[in-house]
Amino acid sequence: MGSLLPHTWEAVPFQQLPRLGRGRRSGLPWHVPAGAAGLAAQRRRASGRPPAVAMATAADGLRKGIAEFYDESSGVWEDVWGEHMHHGFYEAGAEASAAGHRAAQVRMVESSLHFAGVPDDPAKRPKSIVDVGCGIGGSSRYLARKYGAKCQGITLSPVQAERARALAAAEGLAERVSFQVADALEQPFPDGQFDLVWSMESGEHMPDKRKFVSELARVAAPGSTIIIVTWCHRDLLPSEKSLRPDEVNLLERICDAYYLPAWCSAADYVKTAESLSLQDIKTADWSANVAPFWPAVIRSALTWQGFTSLLRSGWKTIRGALVMPLMIEGYNKGVIKFAIITCRKPGRVEN
Ligand SMILES: C[S@@+](CC[C@H](N)C(=O)[O-])C[C@H]1O[C@@H](n2cnc3c(N)ncnc32)[C@H](O)[C@@H]1O
Repeated sequence: MGSLLPHTWEAVPFQQLPRLGRGRRSGLPWHVPAGAAGLAAQRRRASGRPPAVAMATAADGLRKGIAEFYDESSGVWEDVWGEHMHHGFYEAGAEASAAGHRAAQVRMVESSLHFAGVPDDPAKRPKSIVDVGCGIGGSSRYLARKYGAKCQGITLSPVQAERARALAAAEGLAERVSFQVADALEQPFPDGQFDLVWSMESGEHMPDKRKFVSELARVAAPGSTIIIVTWCHRDLLPSEKSLRPDEVNLLERICDAYYLPAWCSAADYVKTAESLSLQDIKTADWSANVAPFWPAVIRSALTWQGFTSLLRSGWKTIRGALVMPLMIEGYNKGVIKFAIITCRKPGRVEN
């Protein structure tokens, strides 16, 4: 397992983060989405407009791209990989069968809860959970069942929300688990509603990381736990102001296929959580624990079932599949990190 020690070193503020593809994006703020080719065109159109309008236009383009990407690709993923749309957490020598991979995805959920210290004790365990960027609700249903809790999931993809509802109904969870299309940066919930705030592999899509973390904190009840599991770039060295050009280039190619805005590091998340006065901030690098994941996804795409599902799905999904080797390259080069960041909202937990 990667280091479980709290992460303490200083990070650059988000405003000073390296911009991906500065040349192509000159004139736009760092957190304006990179996205795909369509988004690049949108940026070009937007760049002649006042900055606020250009930002809003680009953010709209990113949201639309993410929604369409998951509308198109979620069925293929579910057919081949099941209900969890995230990396697996692998122990050394873990089994490489399909069942082994699904078990690794559940282990990712359990390892995250364990790392964050979410209590199992019936008197203290979470009763009200939000799943931010819920996919087809794999985590929502798992957490609702594990804790006997209510869970509300949000996603940008109408197809995912619909499928998540159908699966919840089929599993007899419709009373306790619900899903809606909503933006993580403008959550449709009142302040302080949830005693567990969960974001499994959605943070990498967020064009404004500070707004993202502050929304997670806003909807968290006092004393409750926030869990962010996400793709990051490596922490910068004290001597560095940005990633190297070859690293930026690699991440840009991934951004274009997966509808991702500029990346940040785990240290940047820590800095943001500190600036929002969140407490008990911990982070760990789980890159080594997820290493078998992308090779397995590529192998599954090369099976007859994977290949024919891909061909039926559409260009966005096919393009996503074509850049999968770049994720492996990113991990191997140490520029991509798989990170967990957990923290607590100040205040007392009410039970
Ligand atoms: C890789 S999937 C992860 C799904 C799920 N958490 C899981 O582990 O199965 C990323 C999810 O983030 C959602 N997402 C991305 N940006 C979002 C935003 N701004 N607001 C809400 N959901 C968002 C996508 O719609 C998608 O459901």
